Amino acid sequence: MREELLNMREEALHDIEKARDLKELNDIRIKYLGKKGKLTAILRGMANLRPEERPAIGKLANEIKEVIEEEFSKKSNELKEIVKNERLKREEIDVTIPSKVAIGHKHPLTLVLDEIKQIFLGLGYEIVEGPEIELDYYNFEALNIPKDHPARDMQDTFYITEDILLRTHTSPVQVRTMERRKPPIKVIVPGRVYRSDEVDATHSPVFHQVEGLLVGKNVTMADLKGTLITFAKMFYGEERKVRFRPSYFPFTEPSAEMDISCIACNGKGCRVCSYTGWLEILGCGMVHPNVLRNSGYDPEELTGFAFGMGLERIAMLKYGISDMRLFFENDLRFLEQF
Ligand code: PHE
Repeated sequence: MREELLNMREEALHDIEKARDLKELNDIRIKYLGKKGKLTAILRGMANLRPEERPAIGKLANEIKEVIEEEFSKKSNELKEIVKNERLKREEIDVTIPSKVAIGHKHPLTLVLDEIKQIFLGLGYEIVEGPEIELDYYNFEALNIPKDHPARDMQDTFYITEDILLRTHTSPVQVRTMERRKPPIKVIVPGRVYRSDEVDATHSPVFHQVEGLLVGKNVTMADLKGTLITFAKMFYGEERKVRFRPSYFPFTEPSAEMDISCIACNGKGCRVCSYTGWLEILGCGMVHPNVLRNSGYDPEELTGFAFGMGLERIAMLKYGISDMRLFFENDLRFLEQF
Protein backbone atom coordinates (compact mmCIF):
# COMPACT_ATOMS: atom_id res chain seq x y z
CA MET A 1 0.00 0.00 0.00
CA ARG A 2 2.91 2.27 0.74
CA GLU A 3 4.20 1.54 -2.77
CA GLU A 4 0.82 2.31 -4.17
CA LEU A 5 0.67 5.70 -2.43
CA LEU A 6 4.17 6.68 -3.52
CA ASN A 7 3.43 5.73 -7.13
CA MET A 8 0.26 7.71 -7.06
CA ARG A 9 2.18 10.70 -5.75
CA GLU A 10 4.66 10.54 -8.66
CA GLU A 11 1.88 10.10 -11.15
CA ALA A 12 -0.10 13.06 -9.73
CA LEU A 13 2.88 15.41 -9.64
CA HIS A 14 3.70 14.45 -13.20
CA ASP A 15 0.11 15.15 -14.34
CA ILE A 16 0.03 18.50 -12.57
CA GLU A 17 3.30 19.47 -14.15
CA LYS A 18 1.90 18.77 -17.60
CA ALA A 19 -1.47 20.50 -17.17
CA ARG A 20 -1.92 23.16 -19.84
CA ASP A 21 -4.85 25.08 -18.49
CA LEU A 22 -6.97 25.57 -15.39
CA LYS A 23 -9.70 23.25 -16.58
CA GLU A 24 -7.25 20.42 -17.13
CA LEU A 25 -5.67 21.12 -13.75
CA ASN A 26 -9.02 20.97 -12.02
CA ASP A 27 -9.82 17.64 -13.69
CA ILE A 28 -6.51 16.30 -12.38
CA ARG A 29 -7.36 17.44 -8.88
CA ILE A 30 -10.67 15.61 -9.02
CA LYS A 31 -8.94 12.54 -10.45
CA TYR A 32 -6.59 12.28 -7.46
CA LEU A 33 -8.18 14.06 -4.55
CA GLY A 34 -11.89 13.98 -5.39
CA LYS A 35 -14.45 11.83 -3.52
CA LYS A 36 -14.13 9.17 -6.18
CA GLY A 37 -10.44 9.93 -6.72
CA LYS A 38 -7.38 7.68 -6.55
CA LEU A 39 -6.34 8.66 -3.04
CA THR A 40 -9.74 7.81 -1.62
CA ALA A 41 -9.67 4.51 -3.49
CA ILE A 42 -6.29 3.59 -2.04
CA LEU A 43 -7.28 4.63 1.47
CA ARG A 44 -10.28 2.39 1.30
CA GLY A 45 -7.76 -0.49 1.45
CA MET A 46 -6.72 0.66 4.94
CA ALA A 47 -9.34 -1.67 6.38
CA ASN A 48 -7.24 -4.64 5.30
CA LEU A 49 -4.11 -3.40 7.08
CA ARG A 50 -2.95 -4.58 10.40
CA PRO A 51 -3.86 -2.02 13.08
CA GLU A 52 -0.19 -1.22 13.91
CA GLU A 53 0.49 -0.38 10.24
CA ARG A 54 -2.37 2.05 9.98
CA PRO A 55 -0.94 5.22 11.68
CA ALA A 56 2.20 5.27 9.48
CA ILE A 57 0.19 4.80 6.28
CA GLY A 58 -2.35 7.38 7.40
CA LYS A 59 0.43 9.85 8.05
CA LEU A 60 2.00 9.18 4.65
CA ALA A 61 -1.38 9.55 2.94
CA ASN A 62 -1.84 12.96 4.59
CA GLU A 63 1.63 14.11 3.64
CA ILE A 64 1.05 13.07 0.03
CA LYS A 65 -2.26 14.83 0.00
CA GLU A 66 -0.59 18.02 1.25
CA VAL A 67 2.18 17.83 -1.33
CA ILE A 68 -0.28 17.34 -4.16
CA GLU A 69 -2.43 20.20 -2.83
CA GLU A 70 0.60 22.47 -2.70
CA GLU A 71 1.77 21.62 -6.19
CA PHE A 72 -1.73 22.06 -7.42
CA SER A 73 -2.03 25.59 -6.08
CA LYS A 74 1.43 26.52 -7.37
CA LYS A 75 0.50 25.34 -10.82
CA SER A 76 -2.85 27.04 -10.60
CA ASN A 77 -1.18 30.38 -9.84
CA GLU A 78 1.21 29.89 -12.71
CA LEU A 79 -1.61 29.22 -15.14
CA LYS A 80 -3.62 32.19 -13.88
CA GLU A 81 -0.62 34.44 -14.41
CA ILE A 82 -0.26 33.19 -17.98
CA VAL A 83 -3.94 33.81 -18.69
CA LYS A 84 -3.67 37.31 -17.26
CA ASN A 85 -0.61 38.16 -19.33
CA GLU A 86 -2.24 36.91 -22.47
CA ARG A 87 -5.26 39.05 -21.80
CA LEU A 88 -3.17 42.15 -21.16
CA LYS A 89 -1.38 41.57 -24.40
CA ARG A 90 -4.63 41.12 -26.29
CA GLU A 91 -6.14 44.28 -24.84
CA GLU A 92 -3.13 46.45 -25.41
CA ILE A 93 -4.17 49.77 -27.00
CA ASP A 94 -2.22 50.93 -29.97
CA VAL A 95 -2.27 54.67 -29.59
CA THR A 96 -0.66 55.10 -32.98
CA ILE A 97 -3.65 53.75 -34.92
CA PRO A 98 -5.20 56.71 -36.75
CA SER A 99 -8.69 57.37 -35.40
CA LYS A 100 -11.61 58.56 -37.46
CA VAL A 101 -13.43 60.66 -34.87
CA ALA A 102 -15.67 63.27 -36.51
CA ILE A 103 -14.83 66.63 -34.94
CA GLY A 104 -17.60 68.66 -36.57
CA HIS A 105 -17.36 72.28 -37.65
CA LYS A 106 -19.00 75.65 -37.29
CA HIS A 107 -22.66 76.31 -38.04
CA PRO A 108 -23.20 78.47 -41.16
CA LEU A 109 -24.58 81.32 -39.03
CA THR A 110 -21.43 81.25 -36.92
CA LEU A 111 -19.27 81.23 -40.04
CA VAL A 112 -21.05 84.29 -41.38
CA LEU A 113 -20.93 86.09 -38.03
CA ASP A 114 -17.20 85.35 -37.71
CA GLU A 115 -16.63 86.91 -41.10
CA ILE A 116 -18.69 90.01 -40.28
CA LYS A 117 -16.86 90.40 -36.96
CA GLN A 118 -13.52 90.09 -38.71
CA ILE A 119 -14.37 92.86 -41.17
CA PHE A 120 -15.54 95.29 -38.50
CA LEU A 121 -12.69 94.48 -36.13
CA GLY A 122 -10.45 95.38 -39.07
CA LEU A 123 -12.26 98.72 -39.32
CA GLY A 124 -11.55 99.39 -35.65
CA TYR A 125 -14.89 98.36 -34.14
CA GLU A 126 -15.33 96.61 -30.80
CA ILE A 127 -17.79 93.79 -30.19
CA VAL A 128 -20.31 94.33 -27.38
CA GLU A 129 -23.44 92.47 -26.27
CA GLY A 130 -26.66 93.21 -24.45
CA PRO A 131 -29.44 91.27 -22.71
CA GLU A 132 -32.01 89.25 -24.67
CA ILE A 133 -34.56 89.86 -21.93
CA GLU A 134 -34.87 93.60 -22.22
CA LEU A 135 -36.75 96.51 -20.72
CA ASP A 136 -39.50 98.03 -22.83
CA TYR A 137 -37.62 101.26 -22.20
CA TYR A 138 -34.47 100.25 -24.10
CA ASN A 139 -36.22 98.20 -26.78
CA PHE A 140 -38.76 100.92 -27.68
CA GLU A 141 -39.09 103.99 -25.51
CA ALA A 142 -35.45 105.18 -25.56
CA LEU A 143 -35.37 104.48 -29.31
CA ASN A 144 -38.04 107.06 -29.93
CA ILE A 145 -40.86 104.48 -30.11
CA PRO A 146 -43.44 105.49 -27.47
CA LYS A 147 -46.22 103.14 -26.33
CA ASP A 148 -48.73 104.15 -28.99
CA HIS A 149 -46.25 104.25 -31.87
CA PRO A 150 -47.36 102.25 -34.95
CA ALA A 151 -43.82 100.87 -35.35
CA ARG A 152 -44.58 98.61 -32.38
CA ASP A 153 -47.00 96.63 -34.52
CA MET A 154 -44.25 95.38 -36.78
CA GLN A 155 -42.18 94.33 -33.80
CA ASP A 156 -44.65 92.51 -31.63
CA THR A 157 -42.88 90.27 -29.17
CA PHE A 158 -43.13 88.08 -26.09
CA TYR A 159 -43.84 90.08 -22.95
CA ILE A 160 -42.67 88.85 -19.56
CA THR A 161 -44.32 91.73 -17.75
CA GLU A 162 -45.67 94.96 -19.12
CA ASP A 163 -42.19 96.48 -18.92
CA ILE A 164 -40.02 93.45 -19.65
CA LEU A 165 -39.90 91.69 -22.99
CA LEU A 166 -37.75 89.61 -25.32
CA ARG A 167 -35.92 92.20 -27.41
CA THR A 168 -37.12 92.55 -30.99
CA HIS A 169 -33.84 93.90 -32.30
CA THR A 170 -30.28 94.60 -31.19
CA SER A 171 -30.87 98.37 -31.32
CA PRO A 172 -31.51 98.67 -27.52
CA VAL A 173 -27.78 98.00 -27.10
CA GLN A 174 -27.17 101.34 -28.90
CA VAL A 175 -28.57 103.23 -25.92
CA ARG A 176 -27.08 100.87 -23.34
CA THR A 177 -23.64 101.37 -24.89
CA MET A 178 -23.94 105.15 -25.12
CA GLU A 179 -25.02 105.31 -21.47
CA ARG A 180 -22.04 103.25 -20.38
CA ARG A 181 -19.29 104.72 -22.53
CA LYS A 182 -17.87 108.04 -23.57
CA PRO A 183 -17.66 108.86 -27.27
CA PRO A 184 -16.10 108.18 -29.69
CA ILE A 185 -18.01 104.90 -29.85
CA LYS A 186 -17.46 102.26 -32.52
CA VAL A 187 -19.18 98.98 -31.78
CA ILE A 188 -20.96 96.10 -33.41
CA VAL A 189 -23.54 94.11 -31.46
CA PRO A 190 -24.30 90.56 -32.55
CA GLY A 191 -27.14 88.78 -30.83
CA ARG A 192 -30.37 86.83 -30.75
CA VAL A 193 -33.67 88.67 -31.17
CA TYR A 194 -37.34 87.67 -30.92
CA ARG A 195 -40.59 88.51 -32.63
CA SER A 196 -43.97 86.85 -32.48
CA ASP A 197 -43.75 85.88 -36.13
CA GLU A 198 -45.13 82.73 -37.70
CA VAL A 199 -42.41 80.33 -38.88
CA ASP A 200 -42.01 80.18 -42.65
CA ALA A 201 -39.21 80.16 -45.22
CA THR A 202 -38.17 83.72 -44.37
CA HIS A 203 -39.44 84.21 -40.80
CA SER A 204 -38.59 82.76 -37.44
CA PRO A 205 -39.68 83.88 -33.96
CA VAL A 206 -36.01 83.66 -32.97
CA PHE A 207 -33.33 85.02 -35.24
CA HIS A 208 -30.09 86.95 -35.14
CA GLN A 209 -29.01 90.48 -35.88
CA VAL A 210 -25.80 92.40 -36.01
CA GLU A 211 -26.12 96.03 -34.97
CA GLY A 212 -23.53 98.69 -35.65
CA LEU A 213 -23.09 102.07 -33.96
CA LEU A 214 -20.59 104.85 -34.46
CA VAL A 215 -20.87 108.09 -32.48
CA GLY A 216 -18.44 110.99 -32.37
CA LYS A 217 -17.84 114.56 -33.51
CA ASN A 218 -18.72 115.49 -37.10
CA VAL A 219 -19.94 112.03 -38.09
CA THR A 220 -21.97 112.36 -41.29
CA MET A 221 -24.02 110.32 -43.73
CA ALA A 222 -20.88 110.12 -45.87
CA ASP A 223 -19.19 108.13 -43.09
CA LEU A 224 -22.18 105.81 -42.94
CA LYS A 225 -22.10 105.21 -46.69
CA GLY A 226 -18.35 104.77 -46.84
CA THR A 227 -18.38 102.26 -44.02
CA LEU A 228 -21.28 100.19 -45.31
CA ILE A 229 -20.09 100.18 -48.92
CA THR A 230 -16.70 98.98 -47.69
CA PHE A 231 -18.40 96.25 -45.69
CA ALA A 232 -20.61 95.13 -48.60
CA LYS A 233 -17.67 94.87 -50.97
CA MET A 234 -15.49 93.03 -48.46
CA PHE A 235 -18.26 90.60 -47.62
CA TYR A 236 -19.94 90.04 -50.98
CA GLY A 237 -17.10 90.87 -53.36
CA GLU A 238 -15.59 93.96 -54.98
CA GLU A 239 -17.82 93.63 -58.04
CA ARG A 240 -21.09 94.12 -56.07
CA LYS A 241 -22.99 97.31 -56.77
CA VAL A 242 -24.48 99.05 -53.74
CA ARG A 243 -27.37 101.48 -53.41
CA PHE A 244 -29.09 103.30 -50.57
CA ARG A 245 -32.86 103.81 -50.59
CA PRO A 246 -34.60 106.28 -48.28
CA SER A 247 -36.49 104.48 -45.56
CA TYR A 248 -37.94 105.05 -42.12
CA PHE A 249 -36.90 103.97 -38.63
CA PRO A 250 -38.06 105.92 -35.58
CA PHE A 251 -34.55 105.92 -34.11
CA THR A 252 -32.63 107.20 -37.15
CA GLU A 253 -33.05 110.35 -39.22
CA PRO A 254 -32.51 110.27 -42.10
CA SER A 255 -32.97 106.52 -42.52
CA ALA A 256 -32.06 104.26 -45.41
CA GLU A 257 -31.95 100.69 -46.54
CA MET A 258 -28.92 99.34 -48.31
CA ASP A 259 -29.25 97.02 -51.30
CA ILE A 260 -26.62 95.10 -53.19
CA SER A 261 -26.88 93.99 -56.80
CA CYS A 262 -28.43 90.52 -56.89
CA ILE A 263 -25.91 87.77 -56.28
CA ALA A 264 -27.89 85.23 -58.29
CA CYS A 265 -28.38 87.23 -61.50
CA ASN A 266 -25.84 90.03 -61.11
CA GLY A 267 -28.56 92.66 -61.33
CA LYS A 268 -30.39 91.39 -64.40
CA GLY A 269 -33.49 90.38 -62.45
CA CYS A 270 -34.48 86.89 -61.32
CA ARG A 271 -36.66 85.05 -58.82
CA VAL A 272 -34.19 85.59 -55.95
CA CYS A 273 -34.42 89.40 -56.26
CA SER A 274 -38.10 89.42 -57.30
CA TYR A 275 -36.95 90.66 -60.71
CA THR A 276 -35.65 93.95 -59.29
CA GLY A 277 -31.94 93.19 -59.67
CA TRP A 278 -31.40 94.28 -56.04
CA LEU A 279 -31.30 92.59 -52.66
CA GLU A 280 -31.95 94.46 -49.43
CA ILE A 281 -29.33 93.60 -46.84
CA LEU A 282 -29.63 96.11 -44.00
CA GLY A 283 -31.32 99.11 -42.43
CA CYS A 284 -29.35 102.15 -41.38
CA GLY A 285 -29.42 105.87 -40.67
CA MET A 286 -28.07 108.75 -38.65
CA VAL A 287 -28.80 108.31 -34.94
CA HIS A 288 -31.94 110.33 -34.14
CA PRO A 289 -31.33 113.41 -31.94
CA ASN A 290 -33.92 112.09 -29.46
CA VAL A 291 -31.97 108.84 -29.08
CA LEU A 292 -28.77 110.80 -28.45
CA ARG A 293 -30.60 112.91 -25.88
CA ASN A 294 -32.10 109.82 -24.22
CA SER A 295 -28.56 108.49 -23.89
CA GLY A 296 -27.36 111.68 -22.24
CA TYR A 297 -25.62 113.14 -25.29
CA ASP A 298 -25.99 116.60 -26.81
CA PRO A 299 -27.04 116.21 -30.47
CA GLU A 300 -25.57 119.65 -31.21
CA GLU A 301 -22.18 118.33 -30.22
CA LEU A 302 -22.25 114.68 -31.23
CA THR A 303 -23.66 112.76 -34.16
CA GLY A 304 -23.55 109.15 -35.20
CA PHE A 305 -24.79 106.48 -37.54
CA ALA A 306 -26.28 103.07 -36.88
CA PHE A 307 -27.13 100.03 -38.92
CA GLY A 308 -28.71 96.64 -38.36
CA MET A 309 -28.75 93.48 -40.40
CA GLY A 310 -30.37 90.07 -40.07
CA LEU A 311 -27.77 87.35 -39.87
CA GLU A 312 -30.02 84.63 -41.31
CA ARG A 313 -30.84 86.75 -44.33
CA ILE A 314 -27.19 87.60 -44.92
CA ALA A 315 -26.23 83.92 -44.71
CA MET A 316 -29.10 82.86 -46.98
CA LEU A 317 -27.97 85.31 -49.65
CA LYS A 318 -24.33 84.38 -49.25
CA TYR A 319 -24.85 80.62 -49.54
CA GLY A 320 -27.96 80.59 -51.73
CA ILE A 321 -30.13 79.02 -49.00
CA SER A 322 -33.83 79.32 -49.75
CA ASP A 323 -35.40 78.35 -46.41
CA MET A 324 -34.55 79.88 -43.03
CA ARG A 325 -35.84 76.84 -41.16
CA LEU A 326 -32.78 74.90 -42.32
CA PHE A 327 -30.62 76.90 -39.90
CA PHE A 328 -32.53 75.63 -36.88
CA GLU A 329 -33.44 72.05 -37.81
CA ASN A 330 -29.92 70.74 -37.28
CA ASP A 331 -30.16 68.27 -40.16
CA LEU A 332 -26.61 67.06 -40.71
CA ARG A 333 -27.19 66.70 -44.45
CA PHE A 334 -27.60 70.47 -44.51
CA LEU A 335 -24.97 71.43 -41.93
CA GLU A 336 -22.23 69.24 -43.38
CA GLN A 337 -22.16 71.35 -46.54
CA PHE A 338 -20.45 74.31 -44.89
N1 PHE B 1 -33.37 97.69 -35.66
C1 PHE B 1 -33.81 97.76 -37.03
C2 PHE B 1 -34.63 96.51 -37.33
O1 PHE B 1 -34.61 95.58 -36.58
C3 PHE B 1 -32.63 97.85 -37.97
C4 PHE B 1 -31.86 99.13 -37.85
C5 PHE B 1 -30.80 99.22 -36.96
C6 PHE B 1 -32.19 100.24 -38.58
C7 PHE B 1 -30.08 100.39 -36.85
C8 PHE B 1 -31.49 101.43 -38.47
C9 PHE B 1 -30.43 101.48 -37.59
O2 PHE B 1 -35.32 96.46 -38.34
